[in-house]
Amino acid sequence: MNNNTVGSWKSETDSDGIVWLTLDKPGTSANVLSSGVLIELDGLLRPLQQSPPRGLVVTSAKKSGFIAGADIKEFTGITDAESGYRLIHAGQQVLDRLEALDCPTVAGIHGFALGGGLELALACRYRVAVGDERLSLGLPEVLLGIHPGFGGTVRTVRIAGVRPAMEMMLTGKPVRAEKALRIGLVDKLVPDAGQLQAAARDFILRRPPPHRPPFLERVLSAGIVRPYVRRTLIAQVAAKARREHYPAPYAMIDLWTRFGARGAEAFEGEARSIAHLFTTETSRNLVRVFLLQDRLKAMGGKSPVEIKHVHVVGAGVMGGDIAAWSALRGFTVTLQDQSLALVEPALKRARELFEKRLRDPAKVAGATERLRADIEGAGVPQADVVIEAIFEKLEVKQSLYARLEPRMKPTALLATNTSSIMLEPLAAGLSRPGQLVGLHFFNPVAQMQLIEIVHGAGTDPAAAQAATAFARKLDKLPVPCKSAPGFIVNRVLMPYLHEAMFLAQEGVPLAVIDKAAVDFGMPMGPIELADVVGLNVASDVGEIVARELGRPAPDLGRLRELVAAGKLGRKSGAGFYVWKDGKPQKPAAGGVSAPADLIDRLILVLVNECVACLREGVVEDPDLIDAAVIFGTGFAPFRGGPLAYARSRGVASVVTRLQELASRCGARFQPDSGWPLVATDVKT
Ligand code: NAI
Repeated sequence: MNNNTVGSWKSETDSDGIVWLTLDKPGTSANVLSSGVLIELDGLLRPLQQSPPRGLVVTSAKKSGFIAGADIKEFTGITDAESGYRLIHAGQQVLDRLEALDCPTVAGIHGFALGGGLELALACRYRVAVGDERLSLGLPEVLLGIHPGFGGTVRTVRIAGVRPAMEMMLTGKPVRAEKALRIGLVDKLVPDAGQLQAAARDFILRRPPPHRPPFLERVLSAGIVRPYVRRTLIAQVAAKARREHYPAPYAMIDLWTRFGARGAEAFEGEARSIAHLFTTETSRNLVRVFLLQDRLKAMGGKSPVEIKHVHVVGAGVMGGDIAAWSALRGFTVTLQDQSLALVEPALKRARELFEKRLRDPAKVAGATERLRADIEGAGVPQADVVIEAIFEKLEVKQSLYARLEPRMKPTALLATNTSSIMLEPLAAGLSRPGQLVGLHFFNPVAQMQLIEIVHGAGTDPAAAQAATAFARKLDKLPVPCKSAPGFIVNRVLMPYLHEAMFLAQEGVPLAVIDKAAVDFGMPMGPIELADVVGLNVASDVGEIVARELGRPAPDLGRLRELVAAGKLGRKSGAGFYVWKDGKPQKPAAGGVSAPADLIDRLILVLVNECVACLREGVVEDPDLIDAAVIFGTGFAPFRGGPLAYARSRGVASVVTRLQELASRCGARFQPDSGWPLVATDVKT
């Protein structure tokens, strides 16, 4: 063997004359395709261009996988389309050189090959992979508001065919082993890493013809057929995302329609297109959201308490699903309620969750075994954390704690899922008040990523740290939050929901209000959301938060009437809307269009409340507020969060607009005194 190490790459030439390039980026657990890594690769490929070896194999020395993608931090440094183009063009040239080598080339993949990592593999003539359950091949760029840039939009279509390639690129979803083999993304699967080398060598020595997509896929890429395929693809994308909000998927379809994944123009078109996308607000904001998510993920740290056993009290909507999710994530869980009949529906839902998420029958059985009904509360003395999710009444919760606490381990956490009660009164009768934290999950638990980690005046910082680490073990995103009325998410959602109800009372059709919010980029309209949350809940939480903030309760006669009539929203079959089969029956708006200030009324009242939370220190900094509102409500991610949205409109102009609205619609729009904090803050 002839060895040579260049930065992140190790190059070895074996006795058969095959060159093995192994990537091992120093100081990281996963390889990323930074500019530096690409430049080093280029340096290794140049001499091989002149004197090609018998074959070339690219692999990774990392346990985690092949290559995770480009270095996203580099994207934030791109200031204009020209510098974006230069970065991309340079990367394309390196992979072109790899593709053009006059010898067979193989990517030996294990674990993941994502984004730029998969694009590198696609520039090789063959791909062999360890076909275990960890294998994940994907092009997730669309989630960052861009598309593949190192030839991926071209080579994926050439190798897999237009439909499988577009499905991967437009959704950003990775494919697993069997599908990757079926669509030709990999040429061979081996059962374990030990066989990867032999499989790669075999391809080099045999030199079979490279994979081509099936005949039908090739026909679909013919110039005359493309416009028809385009129409279908556009319709699929339009059902999920608007071009003005998310231009990247449309750009991919446009590129393919123009170039059909053929010729040098296709690569050049890709580079120009991504360079433009880098400069869009959407991409900047989605990258921002990605980095915020990384920040929350890094919050876990080491837990002062090792949590293995979780005891949940209250098997209702929330407690049942929290218990199921904890069992899914590997914890031993005991679930308590007042009778077995109240626990059984939760166990049934849990079973459905396990089957959907785990698929493998052995794993489903494992999770099912980890979750036990426990009416007597026999699990309490063993539990490392007891999560309370019973009725939202202070005295009921306090009396439960009085019975629970003496039976708990002194080191165990007592966590409440309360959505509106402050921690201080809940802790009042406890002998270890420092152990009480809020773990505020969102509904539906399996889908919502956020958990507010609430600390009260007496919460021990070690307990808050343990709760944060536990949230990460649950694979959720923790945001530390002060015990304050409504914490962060419900506090800012309330004025938004109330404003929608004021508009409804003024006679704006419900469907017009909801449509305006969806057009802005919200996952659903506020009227529909109020119905989903439950109108009694919306009414109670709204009143509690207003009272604790010392504000007058909003005069929402229509809401009161509906609640009094038992019309509680989706759960009772009617609320603002009538609900059928879980769907709201929205009456036609009858040609009424949205009043000019509708969207500002809805959104700015929410943004103004975020500023109040920032001023009061409910959450530590503006980025965490944006993160909480995005991950807790689905607030339009392409707008980067409520405070980023205000900054992009200009703080001064938002404040002026709020003053106008205050004079026209009421004091609730009075700009908060904390706005200067937003104006001076540096955008990440
Ligand atoms: P729920 O009414 O669906 O379930 C509460 C369960 O607690 C019932 O099954 C009840 O039998 C049981 N329970 C009451 N007292 C008990 C006791 N002393 N011992 C054992 N079990 C007892 O309520 P939901 O919606 O699950 O809410 C629970 C908590 O979660 C509340 O504090 C609520 O504010 C909070 N929350 C609710 C959200 C939602 O969307 N529903 C979202 C986030 C938090």
